[in-house]
Amino acid sequence: MPLVTSAEMFKKAYGKYAVGAFNVNNMEIIQGIVDAAKEELAPLILQVSAGARKYAKHGYLMKLIEAAVEDTGLPICVHLDHGEDFEICKSCVDGGFTSVMIDGSQFSFEKNIAVTKQVVEYAHAHGVVVEGELGRLAGVEDAVNVNAKDATYTDPDQAVEFVKRTGVDSLAIAIGTSHGAYKFTGEPKLDFARLEKITGLLPGFPIVLHGASTVLPEFVAKCNKHGGQLKDAKGVPEEMLKKAGTMGVCKINIDTDLRLAMTASVREYLANNPADFDPRQYLRPAREAIKNMVKHKIRNVLICSERV
Ligand code: G3H
Ligand code: 13P
Ligand code: ZN
Repeated sequence: MPLVTSAEMFKKAYGKYAVGAFNVNNMEIIQGIVDAAKEELAPLILQVSAGARKYAKHGYLMKLIEAAVEDTGLPICVHLDHGEDFEICKSCVDGGFTSVMIDGSQFSFEKNIAVTKQVVEYAHAHGVVVEGELGRLAGVEDAVNVNAKDATYTDPDQAVEFVKRTGVDSLAIAIGTSHGAYKFTGEPKLDFARLEKITGLLPGFPIVLHGASTVLPEFVAKCNKHGGQLKDAKGVPEEMLKKAGTMGVCKINIDTDLRLAMTASVREYLANNPADFDPRQYLRPAREAIKNMVKHKIRNVLICSERV
């Protein structure tokens, strides 16, 4: 089974469930995720940020992912997360990725369209699919007022124009999620009406949700019990993600939950076994913690078990 694009995955998923896009940085993270997907027979996107490419190097991550495909026999899509310009997208297309994101959300609408279109032309010519982004993911969100929402959340009419003029294959939108472990200070809220408006105007077109970690309380508590300082960490409730998966959100991005699962496990292990110093001793349970967490997501949040 070779690496695949997300095109077929999204077609099958649309309106029924979402595919998990998990950020990868090293071997244990990759193995934990793919072992979970294999046991659940789930479609899978492994995504690599610019930071991950700096940390582990493109070639190492690519070889690890190829090994995962060989080991599991799963169709896996390998995706660039938050490509900031044409050059990084081109480098990932040339380097074997099957999907790239061009994140022009910090630019003006016209500049975002121009750079996204440039990436689409190059990627499509090489059989690679492209995710664009329109709207800005906020930092910690409380009760965002209507004017602020209109300034940062995705405008439905602009989304239609953006998709038409760029030719992107999927679109990341802003409806209230944000990256990291501190997503809300008050009650978690997503703008589902806006999502519905967007999918109503773009029927069948795959929508992507970034900043979609749940920030699982058990991992936060475990980190804090063993010396961590993650005060007031809060994520997107699982029920909201489940609902999004039935509304045209085909790709749900998860990184923070992987970081928390791994760190909680390492902290616990080292606190309980202060004399140990072989990295395999604490990375084995960390890999297992990732696997269990990803299995839970696949089964109970993404609802994409047995969809391969
Ligand atoms: O959206 C960002 C991802 O969580 C990747 O984070 O740039 O620190 O690798 P990173
Ligand atoms: P989280 O920080 O919520 O895991 O979001 C990850 C993400 O959107 C990667 O692009
Ligand atoms: Zn993101």
